[in-house]
Amino acid sequence: MSVETLSTFPQACNNLPATKEDTWVFGYGSLIWRPSFKYIEKRPARIQGWTRRFWQGSHDHRGLPTAPGRVVTLIEDPSGLCDGMAYLLAAETLNDVFEHLDYREKNGYERFAIQLQFLEIEHKAERAVMYVAPIDNHAYLGPASLEKMAAQIQGSSGPSGSNKDYLTELASALRDMKIHDQHVFELEDAVLSLSR
Ligand code: SIN
Repeated sequence: MSVETLSTFPQACNNLPATKEDTWVFGYGSLIWRPSFKYIEKRPARIQGWTRRFWQGSHDHRGLPTAPGRVVTLIEDPSGLCDGMAYLLAAETLNDVFEHLDYREKNGYERFAIQLQFLEIEHKAERAVMYVAPIDNHAYLGPASLEKMAAQIQGSSGPSGSNKDYLTELASALRDMKIHDQHVFELEDAVLSLSR
C-alpha cells in the first residue's frame, strides 16, 4: 500500500490539504476517544501496513519536558493492521480542524495520507489523513520492556492529565469497539497491576 506525506495529497501542499472535498481523518490513539473537533460522521476503520505502539514520548500532554510520558504512534510494518476510528470532516472546516490538530499533535507527529477500509462496510476503501510520529522525530522513545513502559506510564502526567488515563481510556475505547490490541491490553494490565 502506498503511503505518502500530505505534501503530495492530493495536490502539492506543504501546509493544509488543498482539497475542497469532505475529508476523512483516521485516529488510532487519543483521537479515538477524544476527537475534540466537529465531524459529519464517524466509522470504525482499519489501515494496513502499520502497527500501534506506545513508543512516542509525550512532553506536552501526558508528561513534562523533563519527564515525558508514553503515547501511541504507528510503526511501519508490512504485515501490520491497525484498527481505529475514521471521522469525516466537512470541506469548509478542514482549515480549522487541521490547524487545531497540527497544534494538538505538534510533539513529533506529521500528517500522512493513507487508504483506509471501513470495518462495517465491506470493500469500501477511502483516502484519509492521519497523524504519525515517525521514528526519527525528536520525541521518539522507541521500544522498552513492558515493565519499563508500564512504570513510565504509571509515573507520568502532564497538562492533559495522567498518562495512565490516556492508556486506560484508549484500552476501554478499543474494547467498546471490539478491537483487540495485545500491545495496548498487556500494557494496561501491567500498569493496573502496579497500582493494586
Ligand atoms: C491519534 O490518536 O490518531 C494520534 C495519536 C494521539 O493523539 O494519541
